[in-house]
Formats: sequence, structure tokens, C-alpha cells
Amino acid sequence: MTDTKERIAIYPGSFDPLTNGHLDVIKRAQDIFDKVVVAVLHNPSKTGLFTVNERVSMIEDSLNGNPQIEVDTFDGLLVEYARIKKAVAVIRGMRAISDFESEFQMALMNRKLNKDVQSVFLMTGLRWIFTSSSIIKEAAQFGGDISDMVPEPVKIKLMEKFPLLNC
Ligand code: PNS
Repeated sequence: MTDTKERIAIYPGSFDPLTNGHLDVIKRAQDIFDKVVVAVLHNPSKTGLFTVNERVSMIEDSLNGNPQIEVDTFDGLLVEYARIKKAVAVIRGMRAISDFESEFQMALMNRKLNKDVQSVFLMTGLRWIFTSSSIIKEAAQFGGDISDMVPEPVKIKLMEKFPLLNC
């Protein structure tokens, strides 16, 4: 019998801001799942460089209205959000071994909390293996050229935040 159920995956994160590495993971996830929900964590106790609304707008602008992808925000437990969204999986990008320990711990906790949601790790393209939102923000702050590491809408926003940045 054919399984006609839509397979939904959540791609959660801070996305402060979205990078080309994140976009690469989203593209790979699209090949496996029918729908990918990019979910920005709304954490009132942690202020980022960008507001949650700014992050959502940058992601939407970078995805060009792709119907297979939904951009949303969540707070509280990720697995609870996944249950509400009827997701079968949580996607996380895995760059280097340094990511492994914390990701493994989070995946095991998530499984303990909800065994019906699988953690799926996707390896980013080699090109993006060293990129992260934090290192890009740090370089941008001091005028470092990060133009090929972030999508255009993010680059524009970073230039607004950091007057030194001119790429
Ligand atoms: O981009 P990040 O900051 O690495 O993303 C971390 C995120 C948002 C995936 C993680 O902090 C999270 O899932 N937070 C929600 C609370 C939760 O469910 N934590 C995991 C179980 S303790």
C-alpha cells in the first residue's frame, strides 16, 4: 500500500542570521521531505543581533516564496512544537566533529521526550563547513567581507547593522 501521508520535517534554530550553510541544509532536506518548516526559536531571555521578526523576514526573502518551505517561530519544547506541526523529523546540520557532542545530547533528550520524532543530521556542503552565524557576525562587525557566506537579503541587513561592512 502506498503511504500518502505528507512527510514534514522541522528545521529549528536561532538563525541569527541565516547563512548559506543553513540554506544548503534546507535544500538537502527538501529532497527528503515533502515539507520543511524552518522554525526560528523565540527565546525572550536571549537577545540576538536581529529580532525574531527580522530573522523570519530575512529567511522568507532568501527562500523566494518556495511553497515546499514554511517559515515559522516557536518557543518552549521543540518536540512539542514538532508534535503540533505533525512533523516526523527534526533536521540539524552537522558541520564538524565539534558539533557532535551537543547535537547528540540534544537528540537523545528530544527522543526521550518524544520517541515519535526522529533526529536527522545532514552534513553541510564542504564549502560551508567552517561557517556559522556567530563567526559571520564577528567578521562583519569589523568590516570583513562575508558576501559569499550569506544570502543577499542577509548581507543587506548586516550592512545596515555594521557601517564598517562594505561588500
Ligand atoms: O541554532 P541553534 O541555536 O543551535 O538552535 C538550537 C535549538 C533552537 C534547536 C535548541 O536550542 C532548541 O531546540 N530549543 C528549544 C528547547 C528545547 O526543546 N531544547 C531541547 C531539549 S532540552
